[in-house]
Amino acid sequence: MKSTYYLSGAERAEGVHRLFVKIAHHYDLINDIQSMGAHRIWKRRLVAKAEIYRSLKQSLNPQPFHILDLCSGTGDIAIALAKKRFKVLGVDFSAEMLEIAKKRASQLSLSGLEWKESDVYSLQLPHSSFDLITCAYGLRNLADIPLAIERIYQWLKPGGVVLFLDFGKPNNVVLKPFFHLYLKLVVPIFGLLLCRDAKAYSYILDSLEHYPAQKGVDELLRKTGFSETGWDAFVGGTMCLSHATKPMEFS
Ligand SMILES: C[S@@+](CC[C@H](N)C(=O)[O-])C[C@H]1O[C@@H](n2cnc3c(N)ncnc32)[C@H](O)[C@@H]1O
Repeated sequence: MKSTYYLSGAERAEGVHRLFVKIAHHYDLINDIQSMGAHRIWKRRLVAKAEIYRSLKQSLNPQPFHILDLCSGTGDIAIALAKKRFKVLGVDFSAEMLEIAKKRASQLSLSGLEWKESDVYSLQLPHSSFDLITCAYGLRNLADIPLAIERIYQWLKPGGVVLFLDFGKPNNVVLKPFFHLYLKLVVPIFGLLLCRDAKAYSYILDSLEHYPAQKGVDELLRKTGFSETGWDAFVGGTMCLSHATKPMEFS
């Protein structure tokens, strides 16, 4: 079954935008069901890494630590980071997803959390202005991944870190077909039952097939100029948390 939401070329963003308008109100519930709650654990791992980077950085230079969270969606990452007293700017181009994020955040009266409705590629942000850039389940949806990584590099301060959490591609010969079948046959059923649209969730497999995943993303990061790249693999590499550092500038 081919997704009507995975479009190639210039139409890529339009398809993704339409997808998240369609699923916004069921997105959090389907995440919990399809991952059996495990996405919360992987997101906590990302936040724990952010805290480690902050303590390392602030032991050298006790300045506020600014985070840009790209593709914020309904706000899981941005809100979790703001709860840990980070200053966070959450960005997403779906008003429907952001509306849910803002509602959730307002119920928690968090300070230091701002939202911006924008396409990643239209963002006008000063260069070298963030200590950390996070993007959970976002990179795979972007039309031009190398360009997004270049922008991230520009927006990070020297010594800043990027963290990408996303689906990965497992190597294990038993896990690989099982994972493929799960995404192909089971996950679309959640889309059908909750959003009345199986294709909304067959999109995950379509986008993953075109996504460079852990190894390809690591190569792109190094090609852009990042150092100390690597990833933590969860559930046999079906889920990965990639990290990379923008090198310090020495004169
Ligand atoms: C799978 S959701 C991830 C939401 C959240 N980060 C999470 O981990 O649950 C992907 C989000 O990326 C957003 N997105 C996709 N392409 C985008 C783009 N080009 N610019 C801004 N946001 C984009 C979508 O609107 C959607 O909210």
